Amino acid sequence: MAQKNNIQLAIREYRPSDQAMVTELFLDSIRENIYPAFFKSMSHSDHVGVALSISMAGYVLGGSSYFQALLFGAAWAGLIYFCCHEIYEGYMLRRLTTDMADIQANYLTNPDNGFWVAEVGDNETSRVVGMVTVRAQRRVEDEHHGNSNGGVGTGSSADGSGDSGEMSHLAVAFLWRRRKLGYQLTQRALEFCKERGFARLILDVSSPQTGAMSLLRKNGFIQTSSHSNTHGNRWISKLARISVLRMEKFL
Ligand SMILES: CC(C)(COP(=O)(O)OP(=O)(O)OC[C@H]1O[C@@H](n2cnc3c(N)ncnc32)[C@H](O)[C@@H]1OP(=O)(O)O)[C@@H](O)C(=O)NCCC(=O)NCCS
Repeated sequence: MAQKNNIQLAIREYRPSDQAMVTELFLDSIRENIYPAFFKSMSHSDHVGVALSISMAGYVLGGSSYFQALLFGAAWAGLIYFCCHEIYEGYMLRRLTTDMADIQANYLTNPDNGFWVAEVGDNETSRVVGMVTVRAQRRVEDEHHGNSNGGVGTGSSADGSGDSGEMSHLAVAFLWRRRKLGYQLTQRALEFCKERGFARLILDVSSPQTGAMSLLRKNGFIQTSSHSNTHGNRWISKLARISVLRMEKFL
C-alpha cells in the first residue's frame, strides 16, 4: 500500500465483498453527469434561442403574462432535463443488467479482463473509493459490436490493428478526487493492456465529462472519433446535445 497524508491507498483487484461499494460508486459516478449535461445543453445557443422563443410565446398567449412566459420556459428546461436524465439512467440500467450484474463472471474469470478498485484505510476501516475495468475487445468483435462504453455511447471501434482493451467504469468517489487516484487507476489499466499485448486502450466518454477528458489527455489519450448515438432514442439524443467521444491510447 502506498501512503499519502497518513492515509493508506492501494490499487488492488476487485473482490466479491466490494460489490456493494462498487455499485454505489458506479451509480453516483453516472448520475452526477446529469446536471452538467443539462446545464451544458441549456447554455447552447440553439437551446437558449428556443427557450426565449417559447417564453415569448407563453407571454403572448397568456395575454402579457410573465407567469406563463416562465411556465413555458420551465417546460422546455424540464424537457431537456428529462432527455439528459434518460440518457444517463438508460446507460446505467443497461450496465447494471449486463456486465455489472455478475462482475465475477464478466471480469474475473477471463484473464484478458480486469477489474480494479482503489482502497483507502487499513484492513478494519478500508473503503473502496475508486474503480476501473478493462475488457478485451477482439478484432473480430470490433467489426460487429463496437461495444465500448466508458461514457454513454454505443460507438464503433476505430481503425487499427490488433486486439484492444476497452476501459469502463473509471470513477473516483467525490471526496477523494484530485489526489491522483484516477491517474493511478488509468495507469493500472494501461499496464494490464501492455501485459496482455493489446495494441491500444480505448474508451468512450460523454461530452459533459470534462474532468475525465482532461485526465485522459494528460495520460496520452487522443480523441479519434465522436458521434451522438447515445442510449436514448434519436430525439432524446438530439435534444440533450450529448456527444460520445472515442478516446484511444496506442500502446
Ligand atoms: C474523472 C475522474 C475519474 C478523475 O479522478 P481523480 O482522482 O480526481 O483524477 P486525478 O486526481 O488522478 O487527476 C489527474 C489529472 O487529471 C486532470 N483532472 C482530473 N479531474 C479533473 C477535473 N475535474 N477538471 C479538470 N481536470 C481534471 C487534472 O489534470 C489532474 O491533474 P492535477 O490534479 O494535477 O491538475 C473523477 O473525476 C470521476 O470519477 N469523475 C466521474 C466519473 C467519470 O467521469 N468517469 C470517467 C468515465 S470515462
